[in-house]
Amino acid sequence: MKKISRRDFIRTAVIGGATISLGSAMFIKPMEAQASGKYDIGQCKSLKVTCVSELGWFSNEVLLKQIMAAPGKMQANQWAVPWDPKNAAGSCTLVEVEMLDGKKHKFLLDTGWNKDYMDQAFQREGIDKMLKNHEIDFLIISHEHLDHYWALETTLKYNPNIKIIIPGTFYPEGLEYLQGKDFPEANTSNKIPHKGELVKTEPGKVTQLYPGVAALTFDLPIIVRVRGEQSLYFNVKDKGIVCVTGCCHQNVLTLSDFAVNNIVGGEKMYGLYGGLHISPFGPINEAGMKIVKGMAKYGYKKVASNHCTGISAVQAMIAEGYPVVKGTGRFGSQSDLYIGNGDSVTFG
Ligand SMILES: [Fe+2]
Ligand SMILES: [Fe+2]
Repeated sequence: MKKISRRDFIRTAVIGGATISLGSAMFIKPMEAQASGKYDIGQCKSLKVTCVSELGWFSNEVLLKQIMAAPGKMQANQWAVPWDPKNAAGSCTLVEVEMLDGKKHKFLLDTGWNKDYMDQAFQREGIDKMLKNHEIDFLIISHEHLDHYWALETTLKYNPNIKIIIPGTFYPEGLEYLQGKDFPEANTSNKIPHKGELVKTEPGKVTQLYPGVAALTFDLPIIVRVRGEQSLYFNVKDKGIVCVTGCCHQNVLTLSDFAVNNIVGGEKMYGLYGGLHISPFGPINEAGMKIVKGMAKYGYKKVASNHCTGISAVQAMIAEGYPVVKGTGRFGSQSDLYIGNGDSVTFG
């Protein structure tokens, strides 16, 4: 696995202020832990999460066939696998967070895979207008996976100057894609160079985005040669911590445990939204069941997991008696057992 130079991170830690310049990219200055070792990310009033699209791809069979045919299989570089563009959809989430003073902020988590599919989803949910009107503060990318990042052009075509926040673990291809690059072998391209501020989050460091809202990049190798995923923590006043994820390749227990052990307010876990990557390709296995059963200890009050969680994993959560938030099964989502395309859930 490619190692990231520690020098890159050391260079980020010296100067005060919100962000620190590093060539063309910026790192957000990470938070300092309290003497107790915990991070006080502040509080927000509530958040509304809208699933713009949770369907990563249309057919598991087609996707798996392409992965297994690639040299090196699961370790193959995603930017060199000849993915079938007709099988591409994408994951994208709109987050609207209300501050304690009533002020509201909107941002996007991920931007999907298939540009046309995402454009339709953007128009359906009004994201195109929000981007044009600069109502969306930034796009934060959970990880470099094709189904979360490759329809970057759909966001940039409505606002090429938008601030973008990526994990500091991106590979060179992912960074080149931001500048506008064609990857014909993988049937993907970004023809609109990003002109706005680019910020990176340092793995293992809590980074505050607003009062009560923080990102954390977990550094780990992920299938089809991706590294690192960042997830979001919200501290909702009087309710508790809400975790919002892209794919949660680091696993939901690792994600939740971090909040319990390291974030002020983590003794009360309130909600969960996003992909949990438990049984994305079919029936849940023993390891997946262990994760589902392990979730019980957090006592989540609202569980809204979709995307790569897998229908069998959601069914297992329902069987365990977890408060799973149901959806409508519209716009291509494959079940109404979870929050799907066009559905929203409010925490707070
Ligand atoms: Fe995904
Ligand atoms: Fe992923």
